[in-house]
Amino acid sequence: MEAVAIAWGMLIGSVIGFTLAVTVGIGALVCFRLRTKLRTGTHMSASQRIAAAESDSNLGQDSPRSSEWRNMPVWLEALKKNTVVSACGIPKYSYGDITKATCNFSTAIGQGAFGPVYKAQMSTGDTYAVKVLAANSSHGQHEFLAEVLLLARLHHNNLVNLMGYTAEMGQLMLLYNYMSNGSLASHLHGDDQEPLSWDLRVAIALDVARGLEYLHFGAVPSVVHRDIKSSNILLDRSMKAKVADFGLSRHDKIKSRSSDIRGTFGYLDPEYVVTRTFTKKCDVYSFGVLLFELITGRNPQQGLMEYVELATMDAADKLGWEEIVDLRLNGEFDVQELAEVADLAYKCVDDVSRKRPSMRDIVQILSGILITRHSAKKPKNAPTAAAEESCIEIDLLEKQDPLIER
Ligand SMILES: Nc1ncnc2c1ncn2[C@@H]1O[C@H](COP(=O)(O)OP(=O)(O)OP(=O)(O)O)[C@@H](O)[C@H]1O
Ligand SMILES: [Mg+2]
Repeated sequence: MEAVAIAWGMLIGSVIGFTLAVTVGIGALVCFRLRTKLRTGTHMSASQRIAAAESDSNLGQDSPRSSEWRNMPVWLEALKKNTVVSACGIPKYSYGDITKATCNFSTAIGQGAFGPVYKAQMSTGDTYAVKVLAANSSHGQHEFLAEVLLLARLHHNNLVNLMGYTAEMGQLMLLYNYMSNGSLASHLHGDDQEPLSWDLRVAIALDVARGLEYLHFGAVPSVVHRDIKSSNILLDRSMKAKVADFGLSRHDKIKSRSSDIRGTFGYLDPEYVVTRTFTKKCDVYSFGVLLFELITGRNPQQGLMEYVELATMDAADKLGWEEIVDLRLNGEFDVQELAEVADLAYKCVDDVSRKRPSMRDIVQILSGILITRHSAKKPKNAPTAAAEESCIEIDLLEKQDPLIER
């Protein structure tokens, strides 16, 4: 009896064991299949998200935008995923929001190669400048995307802040803080503007130099602007200057295709025209032209540099900068400061890029001019707040900059 019971027990145990093993096996198989399926599903939804992102801007597979994506350099590849744009923290506005804020695009404030620029009054109370990428723009979607990605990671007091963007209804737009005093070009060359004082011109030069110094030495990786000119310098309500337009910006030392000269006539480094290699020193050259533009009030696109060259030829051993100074200043400028700023400008436009100062050197020289001016106005041993502030700012800049390149 006992043997029979044991046999039955063994039989029942084997059946239960077998059933359990089969159940576990089937369960494992089901789990494995389910996981594989889920993984495939995730891939599909990611690509669907990208497709949705592209259809969001109403651009098909063969649209200019998708071909831009295909030709995009590696550093821009990240933008291919729509999620990165959101992750960069730049708000995306709807086409409807912008139509409303610009009263149906009736508030034009400017026109550039990129397209028209409109003033936008947002429902939040903020005022923005909206740059619309024209369909026939010579810049193209590539620059648009470059600008979004670059501006998202560049933050400095002397750069124009990107506040948002729109990529909808086949339209690409960038939203910037509105600079109520317009461009430096309009102040220097506009008929209806009061002439800028000498002191303000030097202050603007230092603001621009600080913005560029940040791009060259503060940004990681460093950035070359490639289109420094007076229409890309904007002035806020307190006349603080900010560098705008990063559409042409690229990482340092990009060798461009030979047919592809970028930048603006009158500000172009002659060495770049020959070598087609854009470096930080090309920005330094354009900045030198901008300094001469501030000194003379003349437009670089109307023979400014020839005018400067003539003045240097006339002077025997000492450069006669007073001859070229803007007549609208009515002689109200400091001769010593003029000499220092003009000497600096002349070094910036040296034919040999290696001999040009760096933007860091330039910030130091211009700050030095302001410090000397402030300490000359005050009695000895009583430095002004502004002079102290400049010293502190120089110190801070030196400590902040992780890249030191000379
Ligand atoms: N953030 C802004 N705030 C106020 N006005 C602006 C702003 N951005 C641009 N503008 C105005 O719009 C004009 C056109 O700007 P845009 O940058 O499109 O062209 P540009 O600088 O004149 O030439 P390019 O296209 O060659 O850069 C500027 O000169 C300026 O007057
Ligand atoms: Mg511009």
